[in-house]
Amino acid sequence: MTTPIHFNATWLEQITKNPATPFKSKLGSIPYTANIVIPHYRDKVRSYFKDQIDSSLEQECKNINSPMPFEHFGVSISFESPIEVHLYDENSMLNKGLSEIIAKVGPIILKNTYFSSAIRDDGHRNRFPQFQFHVDRSPMQDTRYSLYTRNPFCPEQKHPRTASTIFTTNSAAYLQAIKQGLFTKDKDKRAPTSNLLFEKEPLETILGNVILEQRWDEPEGVGEIAMIDNATVLHASFYRDAAQSGYRIGVRYLAGL
Ligand SMILES: [Fe+2]
Repeated sequence: MTTPIHFNATWLEQITKNPATPFKSKLGSIPYTANIVIPHYRDKVRSYFKDQIDSSLEQECKNINSPMPFEHFGVSISFESPIEVHLYDENSMLNKGLSEIIAKVGPIILKNTYFSSAIRDDGHRNRFPQFQFHVDRSPMQDTRYSLYTRNPFCPEQKHPRTASTIFTTNSAAYLQAIKQGLFTKDKDKRAPTSNLLFEKEPLETILGNVILEQRWDEPEGVGEIAMIDNATVLHASFYRDAAQSGYRIGVRYLAGL
């Protein structure tokens, strides 16, 4: 028997009340700590792109028909001991509560978690190009969520990975494309879907600020899962060790709300 997960919008409210404070609770008998990964993300986007924003961030978002960046970006849930999780049903429908959370804060990251053996190797494996921010799915596709896995039972993936997966929002990617001269406000009234972005920015100014870094660096034998909605969030790789692109990460696509 697997404990049903209790993560949903109501649960998230408890965390966003004090977004810089870790939230401790239990799933069944397993204690966990949840954190907002980048508190006050929207303010950080406003500040980072102040030279690219003409009147307001709200207006820029309207121009590209995109929602405002999330007030806070990403939630990470770290379990004290390994736990098997059921996050979607047999029709690849993501759990409703998780969809609610993704709609409010973007990426969800689960640490010390794994899937049942029946679905552990579903999907495919991939390695994303460095700083090539892209979407896996278009908003028109039913399965618009991407879920990435590090399988703790796999001889390769049980080790920490040398490359990170990095996430940013439509609006931040658009403003960065303007900053780099790749997009112009007259011609490009949309968020990027595959562009080399941020690669020349100082890392310390972007990571944990306008970009969320999922490092896949939990110790050997610890499983990790990350999920996003491709309609609002883009992803790419960042090779922490410049010579290594890391092993291929598990990828599956899910439908939802
Ligand atoms: Fe991808």
